[in-house]
Amino acid sequence: MPHRIAVVGTGYVGLVCGACFARLGHSVVCVDRDAGKIASIEAGEIPIFEPGLEDLVTAERAAGRLTFTTDTAAAVRASEAVFIAVGTPPEPKTGNPDLTAVMAVADAVLDAVDGFTVLVTKSTVPVGTARRLEARILERQGIDVAVTSNPEFLREGNAVHDFLEAERIVVGSRDRRAADLMESLYRPLIDRGSVLMVTTPETSELVKHASNAFLSTKIAFINEMARLCEKVGADVEMVAHGMGLDARIGPRFLKPGPGYGGSCFPKDALALANAARDAGSPLSIVETVLSSNNWHKHAMVTKIADAVGGLDGRRIGVLGIAFKSGTDDVREAPALTIISELVKGGARVTAFDPQAMENARPLLNGIGYAEQAAEVAEGADAVVILTEWPEFRDLDFAAMRARMRRPVLIDLRNLVEPDRAEAAGLALHPLGKAARI
Ligand code: UDX
Repeated sequence: MPHRIAVVGTGYVGLVCGACFARLGHSVVCVDRDAGKIASIEAGEIPIFEPGLEDLVTAERAAGRLTFTTDTAAAVRASEAVFIAVGTPPEPKTGNPDLTAVMAVADAVLDAVDGFTVLVTKSTVPVGTARRLEARILERQGIDVAVTSNPEFLREGNAVHDFLEAERIVVGSRDRRAADLMESLYRPLIDRGSVLMVTTPETSELVKHASNAFLSTKIAFINEMARLCEKVGADVEMVAHGMGLDARIGPRFLKPGPGYGGSCFPKDALALANAARDAGSPLSIVETVLSSNNWHKHAMVTKIADAVGGLDGRRIGVLGIAFKSGTDDVREAPALTIISELVKGGARVTAFDPQAMENARPLLNGIGYAEQAAEVAEGADAVVILTEWPEFRDLDFAAMRARMRRPVLIDLRNLVEPDRAEAAGLALHPLGKAARI
């Protein structure tokens, strides 16, 4: 059955969820207080780089199921459920998510409601947020609002797919009417095989943070194994493959790299560790994962320095700045730390990324940017791959080698076929396996 919903916040999560709910047949109004943003979306400009999103927004607008407004009150009054999808950036001092925007939207919703309304947190919020919202509702008389936690599990670059083909839908509410409405909203996905889990808000909030912390743990674990493999002469990809054959472990999220980044993993693991400490139940594994991932980035700088015999005066070409391929996002990208450390060590860095250079420029000073991937090789003592953009695999390495001062390729994503590097005359330093020098 089609429902009327509002999604407040037209950032990454809000826009994806709004457009996808419209695709499920609901009537969706997306709200943002930024009139310029709404105007540009209405003019067909999607503010983020996300495959499939632009087509989806265009189609759903044309179908009349997706509209945009700056008027929160009107959108709330027209809706059975209001999703909060505003940002929760880390506070500079603690790293905890800043809930100012979430609480401001909640207050605006509570000011506007005129009938039973489900208030849903879609933004990733720390455990206990639903209780805080419920307390705010209790402070007011005569409003009928049910708080519900419904975390998103969207990967950047796969967000539309991850929504429309969700493995799981987690709903946390203490109100039966809210749980029923959420089930009805997601019915088309449930009928296609998505698993619905209905629980309390606290459990739902923790599922999100625990999932991200656990996935971070897998990555930090395999990155530590990669460093060990280099010391003892093993091959981390084969170790991961062997581990993954055990169905209890599984093969996914065991790919070594320069460290995990992005807007979720680093922030969520830190928020969870802080919340756990506050609750008097510290999470030593999660805390270790955080420091392991930080340490790993420094270890990668040492690996680069070792491959070129020290950093001072070296020219390093960097391929990839985004925290992963398929996105222009550089938030918490390991490249930011690694490049800064290279520069601090006296190296001259030229970097290229097919999507993320504009976002990187304000954050990475004192480096050069290349217009083409192959240009980073110019006069370089080494080229380092930090992001697994598929096009880097197919570069003309022989031509690049001809431009380099020294023929060194440090592949921290294990992207390049060793035979191709060898055929081009490059000494290849992969991650977690023997170098081919
Ligand atoms: C993640 C979660 O996957 C998603 O469910 C959640 O809602 C938001 O956070 P995202 O940040 O888009 O999504 O990226 P993801 O593809 O999960 O990768 C996160 C980081 O881990 C990247 O830096 C990536 O390069 C790294 N990674 C991932 C590895 O180094 N190895 C792996 O095997 C997998």
